Amino acid sequence: MKYSAYYIQESEGNFSASIAELDLIKPEQGFVQIQVSHSSLNYKDALSATGVKGVTRNYPFVPGIDAAGVVTDSASTLFAEGDAVIVTGYDLGMNTPGGFGEFITVPEGWIVKKPENLSALEAMSIGTAGITAAASVIKIMDSKPSSELPIMVTGATGGVGSVAVMILSKLGFNVSALTGKSEAKNFLTQLGATSIILREDYLNEPSKPMARPLFAGAVDTVGGSILSKLLSEIAPHGVVSCCGNVGGIEINTTVFPFILRGINLCGIDSAETPIEFKESLWKKFANEWKLDLSGSTKEVSKEQLGEEIQIILQGGQQGRVVLNHKE
Ligand SMILES: NC(=O)c1ccc[n+]([C@@H]2O[C@H](COP(=O)([O-])OP(=O)(O)OC[C@H]3O[C@@H](n4cnc5c(N)ncnc54)[C@H](OP(=O)(O)O)[C@@H]3O)[C@@H](O)[C@H]2O)c1
Repeated sequence: MKYSAYYIQESEGNFSASIAELDLIKPEQGFVQIQVSHSSLNYKDALSATGVKGVTRNYPFVPGIDAAGVVTDSASTLFAEGDAVIVTGYDLGMNTPGGFGEFITVPEGWIVKKPENLSALEAMSIGTAGITAAASVIKIMDSKPSSELPIMVTGATGGVGSVAVMILSKLGFNVSALTGKSEAKNFLTQLGATSIILREDYLNEPSKPMARPLFAGAVDTVGGSILSKLLSEIAPHGVVSCCGNVGGIEINTTVFPFILRGINLCGIDSAETPIEFKESLWKKFANEWKLDLSGSTKEVSKEQLGEEIQIILQGGQQGRVVLNHKE
């Protein structure tokens, strides 16, 4: 049997995409075959789809670090044909063919049963971006932040940022959203941001080793000079969840925020998070953290993925992009 996939090929260092028909393989012991109805576009997928080193080692390849669908063949005692499931992260879409194909075959330990009150579309509107945002928010909540100051979210219109703004707002926090998009003020206000800071204005203000505390904590999706500046503006014992690097991989800081204010810089690695933790986050998204992401999600077909990949690489995406295989 054949299935259709968004397929990346390499020729002499050049990477090109096409829609290809691939052979479906039978799952080995402990593996499960899933017919994917929806996937989503994350920054890492754009890197894999364009051959950026450090994500996918060998091509040809099918990207897609997220998938939601139904089990079609199982060599596992944990999952049966017909189960509705979700897979995010681990090696999916890195070196294991991913959700941009209509079928995936993955180890049983990567799979979560989809909560009933969450559709496959809703699950993929959340996807890895949402799981990362949720893990970042939990680190901040664990520090019991004061409600006197807002929580900062950087890269606020992006996948991780937009979901983080929504969760924090739902939890009753004031949220300062940092964005490079001056036209996105209404979008961010609708997500629940209480103040909007333009990236350019923020970076134009000089950075100091210790500044007046402005934020009770932060979800940082960009790194670089923004994270460097932010660290000196966090209130005593606040947490900065560090999950992304679209703005740069280096940070320039002093020890002062750490030794004089006891702040914590917490790393987030959602891909390798234990499956039990992922399961607990999906339960939250299906219940007390249920979000309406319909206003910030664009549904696309495989044919439209190439265009969306270029937009995400240029930092221009707003909200989430979901791949619907039936589109
Ligand atoms: N650690 C983990 O587990 C994990 C999981 C998922 C994602 N990530 C990482 O998190 C980051 C965000 O992922 P995503 O899927 O949310 O990507 P995304 O949808 O492209 O969002 C990134 C946002 O960052 C802002 N931005 C873009 N270029 C920038 C620049 N040069 N300087 C400052 N800000 C810039 C833009 O928002 P504004 O215009 O609103 O500023 C953009 O929309 C990526 O680095 C990704 O690899 C990490």
